[in-house]
Amino acid sequence: MPHLTVENLRVGYIPGIDILQGLSLEVKPGKITGIIGPNGAGKSTLLKAVFGFLVPHEGTMLFNGTPIQGQSPAEIKKQGISYIPQGANNFPFLPVKENLLLGCWTFRKDKARIEQVIEETYELFPALAKKHRQRAGMLSGGEAKMLSIAKELVTSPTLAMVDEPSAGLSPIITDYVYEFLAKKRDEGLTILIVDQNIQKAVEYSEYLYMFEMGMVKMEGDQHVFSDHIREIIRDSLVGEDE
Ligand SMILES: Nc1ncnc2c1ncn2[C@@H]1O[C@H](COP(=O)(O)OP(=O)(O)OP(=O)(O)O)[C@@H](O)[C@H]1O
Ligand SMILES: [Mg+2]
Repeated sequence: MPHLTVENLRVGYIPGIDILQGLSLEVKPGKITGIIGPNGAGKSTLLKAVFGFLVPHEGTMLFNGTPIQGQSPAEIKKQGISYIPQGANNFPFLPVKENLLLGCWTFRKDKARIEQVIEETYELFPALAKKHRQRAGMLSGGEAKMLSIAKELVTSPTLAMVDEPSAGLSPIITDYVYEFLAKKRDEGLTILIVDQNIQKAVEYSEYLYMFEMGMVKMEGDQHVFSDHIREIIRDSLVGEDE
């Protein structure tokens, strides 16, 4: 089972400036781990660092016991980690199906496997099946988010990192996306989500971390957060006003 540990991570965008200030966390196998926290806290920076887009100034990241810091995104993806960035991350001028096929790039010669995963994707997301010839740029916000998740999952990752699964989506579509992620978790996928939607993140994550200014401000099991959800939401709103 996939297991990610991050130890004393210092990483940023400019040499000498750390956005994450010696951050440690763990993504437990077979569970949904959630990260919440205000704008600019470093949530997306963590995902980018795990996926190899940023090279740590200090610290270690172990995936199944193997150090992954310093590896390229392609090498990290090969080990079973998928990254679904903030916003819809599709090729807007290409049809839905072409987007999915590009997701299958790493096994592009395996026609049977491609056919099978595309079939499975259409079963999971009938809306995408119906619009498979439409350009991705013409999809609704919810459909676009589903396509961006689906086209990363075609490689059958063992760990999926999803940045803001609910941003810009209606409550009904948000529920749909979360229910989908929970189903995948039940099937064995380990998931790390980042969400500004504290309510949803707490509802679905078995363990959570709250980031503030590049550090872990609070961590604990779901109930630790759900027991204090009102205060947590209030504090995050007060924080934004300051
Ligand atoms: N490409 C970049 N170049 C330089 N600084 C950046 C870059 N991306 C983010 N930052 C800075 O890093 C800090 C953390 O940003 P990050 O995107 O990780 O925050 P976040 O917690 O994901 O916030 P949000 O909830 O708004 O998505 C911010 O101060 C931001 O200005
Ligand atoms: Mg972010």
